Amino acid sequence: MRVVLGVSGGIAAYKACSVLRLLTEAGHEVTVVPTRAALRFVGAPTWEALSGRPVSAEVWDDVPQVPHVRLGQQADLVLVAPATADLLARAAHGLADDLLTSTLLTARCPVVLAPAMHTEMWTHPATVDNVRTLRDRGVHVIEPASGRLTGADTGPGRLPEPEEIVEAALAAVGRSPAPTGATGDVDLAGRHVVVTAGGTREPLDPVRFLGNRSSGKQGYAVAAEAARRGARVTLVSANAQLAAPAGCDVVDVQTALDLERAVTGLVQEGDVDAVVMAAAVADFRPAHYAEAKIKKTHGAGDESAPTIELVRNPDILAGLVRRRDETGGRDPYLVGFAAETGDGTGDVLSLARAKLERKGCDLLVANEVGADKTFGQDHTTVHLLDPGADEDEVVTVGPATKAHVAEAIWDHVAPLLP
Ligand code: CTP
Repeated sequence: MRVVLGVSGGIAAYKACSVLRLLTEAGHEVTVVPTRAALRFVGAPTWEALSGRPVSAEVWDDVPQVPHVRLGQQADLVLVAPATADLLARAAHGLADDLLTSTLLTARCPVVLAPAMHTEMWTHPATVDNVRTLRDRGVHVIEPASGRLTGADTGPGRLPEPEEIVEAALAAVGRSPAPTGATGDVDLAGRHVVVTAGGTREPLDPVRFLGNRSSGKQGYAVAAEAARRGARVTLVSANAQLAAPAGCDVVDVQTALDLERAVTGLVQEGDVDAVVMAAAVADFRPAHYAEAKIKKTHGAGDESAPTIELVRNPDILAGLVRRRDETGGRDPYLVGFAAETGDGTGDVLSLARAKLERKGCDLLVANEVGADKTFGQDHTTVHLLDPGADEDEVVTVGPATKAHVAEAIWDHVAPLLP
């Protein structure tokens, strides 16, 4: 594969030497395109020696070869590591004032950016907007790691480890690096999967919402595993305070209605092979949103409490099933999750079986929840229920990590995709 490795001018440029090594050792043909600032950290001879190819930051070198157009057009992958705040800004605004930004404009292959900068720069609204713009255009912007920065300070903004960067970059082009999973398959290459994660929040007034205890960890693990297996992954994330998994496009949502819009919009684009509804979607929302904060008292001696009227939210999963039956069009495989505590009417499995029938999805992943179980925990036990499966055909996984559960889900689903 032809890879352009862009390097912009941050102290983490030295780590790009390891990224380059990993790529060349995996047999890829890598052209390094540093920015002028990057060359102040690591010089051209280093890049040339490690890549075995000439290196330039300028559009003025080797002009008859038109490198500012050719490199981007011919690349199978453009990876920029580290991507500084300045590089993100120039890329977001379509500037082309050096060889790297010109290459970014001409590339039609997957583009992966691995930002590294100080926390203040990463969280500045200008950078946040630039990252959003780039992601909206389909650029994979890897979430930076948290930890020790250049000086004594710590926080998000650190360049992820070279192995993680290479893994995310190869996942973006549907190739698996050294496989780590049970099967090592890239059995989702060429697939587009949508995974929802986290818990929706239904606003009551500008400061309050009705929410739930879902951390988003299981959905994030399902998304990460799908990306590792080569899928294009859109992760619709409801209020999860988690770093974006490598190689996934993240769409942030707040409410059940936002989540419904995002998921149905993606499915209507017509290229979705599977939807995994791991998000905890609020079944109800306040009927009225108060524009101003609801006050405790309205006068001296007023001890009354408000009554909050609720209305039903749409059942998103059931809606996807219905729409599929209506249109008979592209048929995404639909996976539901059942968070059950068990109650007077049945145990977790019997409630899950009833829910599978009610929802009409293709697979239900049932897990037992409670104050100390599953929510926010790293281990869980789940049961995978297919429609029509007998008691002894239910697959039970765990207690296992959420990553292992994610692996088991895709082991089950991948062979069933049309
Ligand atoms: N779900 C959904 N839309 C909703 C509620 C839930 O799409 N309004 C999805 C969830 O993402 C999950 C599955 O439906 O995949 C089951 O969610 P759960 O909360 O366990 O079930 P409910 O349908 O809400 O049923 P109940 O509250 O009666 O248990």
